[in-house]
Parts: sequence; structure tokens; C-alpha cells
Amino acid sequence: MKILFYMPHADAAAWLRDLARALPAAELREWQPGDTEPADFAIVWRPPREMLAGRDTLRAIFNLGAGVDAILALEREHPGTLPRNASLIRLEDTGMAAQMAEYVTHAVLRYQRRFDEYQVLQNERRWQVLAPHPLESFTVGILGLGVLGTHVARTLASFGLPVRGYSRSAKQIDGIATFAGDTQFDAFLDGVKVLVNLLPHTPDTESMLNARNFAKLAHGAYLVNIARGAHLVEADLLDALASGQLAAATLDVFREEPLPAAHPFWREPRITITPHISALTLREEGIAQIALKIDALTRGEPVSGVVNLARGY
Ligand code: NAP
Ligand code: GLV
Repeated sequence: MKILFYMPHADAAAWLRDLARALPAAELREWQPGDTEPADFAIVWRPPREMLAGRDTLRAIFNLGAGVDAILALEREHPGTLPRNASLIRLEDTGMAAQMAEYVTHAVLRYQRRFDEYQVLQNERRWQVLAPHPLESFTVGILGLGVLGTHVARTLASFGLPVRGYSRSAKQIDGIATFAGDTQFDAFLDGVKVLVNLLPHTPDTESMLNARNFAKLAHGAYLVNIARGAHLVEADLLDALASGQLAAATLDVFREEPLPAAHPFWREPRITITPHISALTLREEGIAQIALKIDALTRGEPVSGVVNLARGY
């Protein structure tokens, strides 16, 4: 079995070493430009088009992340890039749900306990007590109730926060108020104090974080975007902060990454910026999941995490 690997900026030698341990029967190689030799499986993150195009022997492409938007964008721009018979399979959790829960819990409690405002007071050497936002009215709304969103929702609910979630199909999750589909979207947004985005980036979800939707949140709401930069209309966020409709935002993802030095977000003190680190791909966990799935596919068994190309996630 031949496996191609491609992950820019990663320690390729360490990945290939650990993949070889997990899949001792495999012939592994890191893809280099010009390599058109056949392979059975590809393990990739943001591959260039020429790595995938024309690879008719591929049985599956394993995406080294949860979001497959970059690969599907290649296919939209250059139809036929994805080999016809290859399944596209994403990572499911592999340690990302716990990281997301830590990140979002920190952001939400920072706003609820007003630590962001205490930092400003400290900078001004002012000793002043602020009343915390009442927990019971600090409603968190989570866009996306998939692998990551559901774990984040449960974690926040365990702090006593009122938590709502929104998805395409209806869900039932203990302790979480759930909303589904276009007809329930406005009811989901109504009165939300912290909007957390964990949707996949698809043509349907592009620019969903916009002025029209911010206006439906509680006045002085907060935004936490940890999904994709393309979900956010950046000018609408700056306007919403200027008007006070939004009080602050925590952003981990951006339309352009790295965020350019001249970008106005860097100069807005109410925006907290992290460099796409809310949930990192963990090598050990990622390889363990992919190896199990390659073994299952080799035995002719079905696997989970196969992307529905029409739906886009
Ligand atoms: P997932 O399991 O596929 O969950 C996606 C959720 O979004 C599902 O609940 C789905 O609804 C819902 N959804 C999709 N399209 C929708 C629409 N048009 N309207 C309403 N709901 C919609 O994905 P995941 O593993 O939780 O990951 C979510 C995203 O997080 C990834 O796609 C990626 O972009 C992002 N991410 C970011 C980082 C980072 O470091 N910043 C790390 C990992 C992942 P159904 O349940 O009804 O299908
Ligand atoms: C990271 O952004 C991922 O999609 O896993």
C-alpha cells in the first residue's frame, strides 16, 4: 500500500516516522512537486491542486484537520481536481474538541467575569469593582453542533451558563436548547450574549457573521469566531463594535492568514487575536485515527468522517 503525505510547515520527518510505526506495511513518501507516481491513500493539509489532480488510483484522501473547505475550494475552482473514486475523510475530534472547549470557556468566562475590562483598569492603575454579568442571563449561542460544537456546548453548560446550539438537522442534547434550519435561525440568535462560531465554511455559511445577524443578538454581545475567517464580514464587526451592538470579539481565524500587519483588527483593543491555534492537529491522535481507518478501508469496511461533497462538510 502506497501513501502520500503533504503538510506544509509540519515536521514531515516526525509525521512519516510515526505513520510508519502505525502502518508498518505501508510505503510512505512525502509528496514533492512533480511526483505523479501512483498512491493508494493521501494524507494532506491544504494540498496544491497538482498533488491531487489525475490521481485515479487514490482510494481516500485524509484531511489533516476537521475543515475541508480548502480542498473543496480547489474542486470548485478547478472541477475534476478530486479523484473520482477517492473518498475525502476529515479528522473527527482527535483532541480538538477538548482544545476548543478550553479556548471557548476561557473566552466566555473572561467576558462574563469582565476580566477584559479589569485588564483595561489595570493598565490605568484603577482599583474598581465591576458587577459580573449575571451567569443566568449570559446566554451562549453556538453555531454548529457537530463534533466540536457539541463538546463545547456541554462544557459551557457545566458552568451553569444557558447554552443554545444551532445546526442544519434537528438535535437533542441534554441541557442545551437546540435550534435547526433557516426557520429557527432568528429564534436562535434572539437575545444571545456570546455568539460562538463552529460551523464549517461552505457556500451556505459564508459571511454568516454579519450586521443583520449581529443586530439580533443582545445589545453589547460578544463574538467568538474559531471556525473560519470567511464566516465573518470584517467591516460589519468593526461597525458593530463602534455602535456598541457588539462589546468585544475573540478571533482565531481570518480571511487572510497570517493577518496582515496593516489590518485594522490589530488596532482595535476590543478584538482579541490568536493565530489559528484554537484547536491544533495533534500528531499522535491524528495518526491513530487515520491508521485505524486505513486498516478498516483495506478490509473493505466503512469508516466515519467521510465528507459529503454536495453538502460541503
Ligand atoms: P462537524 O462535526 O461537521 O459539524 C458541523 C456542524 O455545523 C454540524 O452540526 C452541522 O449541522 C452544522 N452546519 C453545517 N452547515 C450548516 C448550515 N448551513 N446551517 C446550520 N448548521 C450547519 O464539524 P466539526 O468537526 O465540529 O468542525 C467544525 C469546524 O470547525 C470545521 O469545519 C473547521 O472549519 C473549524 N475548525 C477550526 C479549527 C481552528 O483551529 N480554528 C480547528 C478545527 C476545526 P448538522 O449536524 O445538521 O450536519
Ligand atoms: C483547523 O482549522 C481544522 O479545520 O482542523
